[in-house]
Amino acid sequence: MDRIKIVGGERLNGSIPISGAKNAALPLMIASLLTEDRLTLKNVPNLADVNLLARILRNHGVDLAVDGKRSGGTPHLGETFHLTARDISDTTAPYELVSRMRASFWVLGPLLARMGQAKVSLPGGCAIGTRPVDLHLAALRDLGAEIEIDGGYVIARAPKGLSGGHIVFPKVSVGATHNALLAAALAKGETLIENAAREPEVGDVASCLVKMGAEIEGIGTSTLRIQGRSQLEGAVHTVLPDRIETGTFAFAVAATGGDVVLEGTRRDLLKTAFETLAQTGASITDTANGVRITRNGNGLEPVDVETQPFPGFPTDLQAQLMALMTRAHGTSVIRETIFENRFMHVQELARLGADIKLHGDTATIRGVKSLTGAPVMATDLRASVSLVIAGLMAEGETMINRVYHLDRGFERLEEKLSRCGARIERLTAG
Ligand code: EPZ
Repeated sequence: MDRIKIVGGERLNGSIPISGAKNAALPLMIASLLTEDRLTLKNVPNLADVNLLARILRNHGVDLAVDGKRSGGTPHLGETFHLTARDISDTTAPYELVSRMRASFWVLGPLLARMGQAKVSLPGGCAIGTRPVDLHLAALRDLGAEIEIDGGYVIARAPKGLSGGHIVFPKVSVGATHNALLAAALAKGETLIENAAREPEVGDVASCLVKMGAEIEGIGTSTLRIQGRSQLEGAVHTVLPDRIETGTFAFAVAATGGDVVLEGTRRDLLKTAFETLAQTGASITDTANGVRITRNGNGLEPVDVETQPFPGFPTDLQAQLMALMTRAHGTSVIRETIFENRFMHVQELARLGADIKLHGDTATIRGVKSLTGAPVMATDLRASVSLVIAGLMAEGETMINRVYHLDRGFERLEEKLSRCGARIERLTAG
């Protein structure tokens, strides 16, 4: 397996292009199942998760061409995907594929809405928590689906198609909102979704569905009103910038000090996280085509943060903030309220010399004068990248193992950082 070697201590200066959002690209690709026509997606990031979902969609019969070429050949960067689901040849999403990427469970709603049936493997637990799917199933039942669980599979039927319904989520779920929204776009009549996730990626999917012919009110709010259509059309849509990649690089600049323009991204995608970053002492300004992050001279101030659904502080930036706070002048408190087990980075940060105490869902981080490089590894994407940030701050060499996790969600990470002066390189296995 590849590894990443970092020699810490360099400031970051320059510019970094921000890729299309992984967590929007995935449900947008899944939206292609809703129409016989071609869905063209621009600004799709080249990530392992995107490539795996492409495989899963092909398995259902989706034809995928990348910029006119068949995919699988040359690697694509910010590519244009043309997805056409003229005929759905298979309505089963097998365990072997769904277990490798949770978002692939979201094919359930669209397959059911279009084909009247779907059999999708339960995704199972994962490194960050148990992650049940009860909210997905309840929402689809509200649209008229009959659902049973058999042999680890969700078997869903709607012989006469789905009908509009009233969905009230007892808890905010990004994935269940995607599943419900995608299904409602092809359901008969009106669907009202209350307590919907307001994450910008949900809004991006809703905007694409509008281009495909659905009528949706309340985009960006927690109440979505959808007029379903018996058929949807093709569309052309550009994936919005990745706010988690944006936040990760912004925190990296705050960590090392320096001056970097994050190109092609938007400040409004990360309101709370940028407010937190400003509290730590970094400055954030808008530029003509992005956001500029600077931290010169001054030290890092500690913060007190809890993760919340959008527009709150994102759980997907919790590990990165923790890495930053390991060097703050004082004690920070970070509470994780979304996932019950999202602290795998704590132990690894400690290997670099961080002083972190965990009590249930709360981490207390006492800033230390310096971190020292060490070999580390992590078992999820965001935890892994927090180790990259810590490695950039640490004295000496940090070796990150299991780079596979980073490749799931960060496009050309080492290239983007090294062009800003970081000493970071990939050591290829074999
Ligand atoms: C999405 O996961 C993201 N994944 C996650 O990013 C992100 O951390 C998460 O939303 C929260 O923002 C993608 O977009 C592909 P949820 P999702 O349903 O949809 C509970 C990354 O690193 N819940 O909003 O799976 C659940 O257990 C990934 O890119 C139920 O109880 O998250 C959690 O506690 C990691 N029942 C909470 O809701 C359900 O049926 C929020 O989860 C569904 C969820």
